[in-house]
Amino acid sequence: MDTSTGMLREDALKGRTIVVTGGGTGLGRSMATYFLRLGASVCITSRKLDVLERTAKELEAETGGTVLPVACDVRSHLDVDRLVATAVERFGTVDALLNNAAGNFISPTERLSPKAFETIIGIVLQGTVNCTLAFGKHWIAKGETGKAVLNITTTYAWTGSCYVVPSACAKAGVLALTRSLAVEWARYGIRHNAIAPGPFPTKGAWDRLLPGEMMERFSFAKRVPLGRVGTHQELADLAAYLISPYSGFINGEVVTIDGGEWLKGAGQFNMLDQIEPGMWDAIERQVRGVRGS
Ligand code: HXC
Ligand code: NAP
Repeated sequence: MDTSTGMLREDALKGRTIVVTGGGTGLGRSMATYFLRLGASVCITSRKLDVLERTAKELEAETGGTVLPVACDVRSHLDVDRLVATAVERFGTVDALLNNAAGNFISPTERLSPKAFETIIGIVLQGTVNCTLAFGKHWIAKGETGKAVLNITTTYAWTGSCYVVPSACAKAGVLALTRSLAVEWARYGIRHNAIAPGPFPTKGAWDRLLPGEMMERFSFAKRVPLGRVGTHQELADLAAYLISPYSGFINGEVVTIDGGEWLKGAGQFNMLDQIEPGMWDAIERQVRGVRGS
């Protein structure tokens, strides 16, 4: 079956407006593209206006939809207030927020300055808080309901991870925010869900997390039981569903999409997948031979 073209019906997001932070590149761009193909209008935002404007032009040509590029550093609540005002002025209303912007790099934690921590936590956690608060307050003040917030977290939000500790702390906070507001703001008709992706190839992540020869040495795909990395369309399918009214009863959920990667690291005996299948007869004889001890 060809799964490269998308899962939802063509008009699944028709008439809806979705704000995608970090929407000019990588996974944000791919999810925005699919939302447009499903009939949504999209506001993409990040720090680099030139990148956003180029992406907006390309996506409009590719999909025939409307894309509003807005420069905004999500760490600045003043920038975020301007983002809300600009999107509302252009579209009248915003139906959903995809908190996707992030910053990350690998480093032994003892090499990090306080500013390095502050930078990553500022983009990932405070940035998600700033956008969520600004759009949430706007919706609540206007009495608008049927809204969705979708946060992109990671699987190490709950396992933790060496060498990306600021990101792990921040993504854990994003997960707590998701679950907390799913309950608190349900009364206002605002749903909160999250996606925890495993490895999906993007320049932003790949160049910072396994630079140069490290990619060859530590291949992401080899860590995944399914033996491959994810495709952007697989993530976009899930994001479109969770942000659409079709998932209207899903609230407070975090959906992992990682080919089984984090569980492979977690199960105590998962290392036994290195045993050659032909060895299991001998191993069984040994185990059955254990009596009375
Ligand atoms: C140690 C570092 C560092 C490094 C930066 N710093 N890089 N410290 N090792 N490699 C320190 C700096 O010295 C500085 O501290 C502080 O961090 C801020 O750095 P700036 O360069 O001034 O910050 P800024 O220009 O805001 O850039 C932010 C950034 C950059 C995060 C550092 O990489 C960026 O713009 N990233 C955006 C895109 C991105 O990261 N995408 C990947 C997301 S992938 P001092 O004290 O010296 O001033 C992801 C995937 C997760 O999240 C899971 C994958 C499987
Ligand atoms: P990416 O292309 O580098 O995306 C990050 C985006 O965030 C960029 O567009 C960047 O644009 C924007 N951004 C960074 N700092 C910002 C700020 N202060 N204000 C506003 N925007 C800012 O990387 P990606 O792989 O697509 O990552 C997208 C999301 O998926 C992230 O949340 C990441 O943690 C998550 N994720 C990715 C993977 C993966 O394997 N790729 C796995 C798990 C989770 P500017 O530089 O223009 O600001």
